[in-house]
Amino acid sequence: MSARLLSGKEAAAKVFDEVKSAMRAFTQPPSLAVVQVGSDPASGVYVNMKEKRCLECGIRSAVFRLPENTTETELSELISKLNSDQTIDAFLIQLPLPEHINEARMLELIRPDKDADCFHPYNFGRLAAGNPLVLPCTPAGVLVLLDHYGIEIEGKRALVIGRSNIAGKPLGLMLLARHASVTWAHSRTRNLPDLCREAELIFAAVGKPNFLTADMVSPGAVVVDVGINRVPSGDGYVLRGDVDFEAVSERASWITPVPGGVGAMTIAMLLSNCVALARARL
Ligand code: GUN
Repeated sequence: MSARLLSGKEAAAKVFDEVKSAMRAFTQPPSLAVVQVGSDPASGVYVNMKEKRCLECGIRSAVFRLPENTTETELSELISKLNSDQTIDAFLIQLPLPEHINEARMLELIRPDKDADCFHPYNFGRLAAGNPLVLPCTPAGVLVLLDHYGIEIEGKRALVIGRSNIAGKPLGLMLLARHASVTWAHSRTRNLPDLCREAELIFAAVGKPNFLTADMVSPGAVVVDVGINRVPSGDGYVLRGDVDFEAVSERASWITPVPGGVGAMTIAMLLSNCVALARARL
């Protein structure tokens, strides 16, 4: 079997169009602020991309780039300022933060109704309770991508490999809300290959290149690669997912590429959240 591609580029283009159309409801365009602390190279690329997409869609964008040695007090002061700034509809703090800053403590300071990433525990709790205000961007992008291609979720055996707060954990909750039978696997899981082979939908969110190999995938399974790994190549790097794409493509029915798969969806969902939060403030 040769898998068909789940193109994030294609599905994201539709979301960007919806975001652009939604602008008509606003007299003032919605605004998104992004806070980056330090100089993590991957974060730098993501933040620039977020700014670019905002401009393309007509969303006002403000980027705050703070130095690596920013203190928790300084960052919490900026969060407090953004919370009360009437001209900012939504904002996010790019992760990871430098080690000396407590990530959870900072995320908890964000006003839940301005939480573009849906990382505040209040919003995470609402998601778990089945009554979300907004949805976390990466897993929301995964579901929009599956829906775009008409992949059925209800009643399916779904395996989520990974349990991060950004991807694996909320993705499992969202699949459960869509009536999948969800299993979470992680670094302590025994017999992972057997579990994988039982799954109809496999979501790899591990952060290790080539983690999911062809022998772990049953013929006809749908494979969604949530990993974005920077693998050294020549003087630079290439992006690789968690899935051994070439070999797994021979067994899966559908597969996401990296790049151009889930990663392409994430920013689209961020802008969609920004519009939703701005609309709620009208
Ligand atoms: N770092 C990696 N992915 C994300 C994301 O979706 N949001 C934020 N804020 N940081 C990230």
